[in-house]
Amino acid sequence: MTLCCLNGVIGPLDEARISPMDRGFLFGDGVYEVLAHVDGVTRARQLHRARLAQSLARIQLESAVSIDAIFADVDRLLAASALTSAKIYLQVTRGAASERDHRFPSQITPTIFVMATAWSPTVLGPQAMIIAPDIRWQWNAIKSTSLLANVLIQQQASEAGAVDALLHRDGWLTEASTSNAFVFQDGALLTPPLSDRLLPGITRHLVLELARKHGLTVLETEISIDQLPQADLVMITSSTRGLVPITRLLPDQTIGRGEVPAVFETLQADYQRVLHAHP
Ligand code: PDD
Repeated sequence: MTLCCLNGVIGPLDEARISPMDRGFLFGDGVYEVLAHVDGVTRARQLHRARLAQSLARIQLESAVSIDAIFADVDRLLAASALTSAKIYLQVTRGAASERDHRFPSQITPTIFVMATAWSPTVLGPQAMIIAPDIRWQWNAIKSTSLLANVLIQQQASEAGAVDALLHRDGWLTEASTSNAFVFQDGALLTPPLSDRLLPGITRHLVLELARKHGLTVLETEISIDQLPQADLVMITSSTRGLVPITRLLPDQTIGRGEVPAVFETLQADYQRVLHAHP
């Protein structure tokens, strides 16, 4: 039985109830985090806490929420679920109001939902992606629960047989619909710089830290979508997928020679090691 924690109360997921007036339901007025818990360790917890704080601040909800209390819920839920490896989903919405009104209610009681599902990390081999226009809104650094564009893009990628879509605005790479994007090129690792065009991924942060430690040239720079087929490799990253090598662009393009360079393997192996020790 999958358990969840809704507003501090732990119980079966299929018995948890929220109001249809919840602003998360009506407006997508909320933010979320996804964390990997592996062999008893919640990975990169401090970085997830910091990003949640940032998301809450950007939507003016930080004063109504205690991050310590949310992470205490996470720990209680993990203990109650007796899961040593799990995917943790947590979401905070601006709660329910008596009327459907776009403006914030005067009294806000956020809805805080945490779910832990059995999960174990898998290492994915070379994958294919599609390229698609980035149709999302302008504030993608907020980990918002308003994910309709991401849903439509991921569905399109999936129907094409791709793991995800590389997104671009006016021909410039932003990220993917559920992960950050990198390019290996002539011994350097390139990724678009942080801005409101993309989510500041926790895995992105860790990969850049590792790559620099390895003496790789790291360039946070704009990347033209046209240069992708000439790259040695494209890589996407997320907490749940880890580091994924991309060797094909559907329908019919190969990235570089279609091979995974040794530098990727080294980074991936180190990522597993470092992550486990990351606070
Ligand atoms: N997605 N960019 C987007 C748009 C994402 O949705 C995600 C993560 C990432 C990678 O972030 P991180 O390395 O912190 O997981 C980048 C999660 C896993 C999700 O929505 O399920």
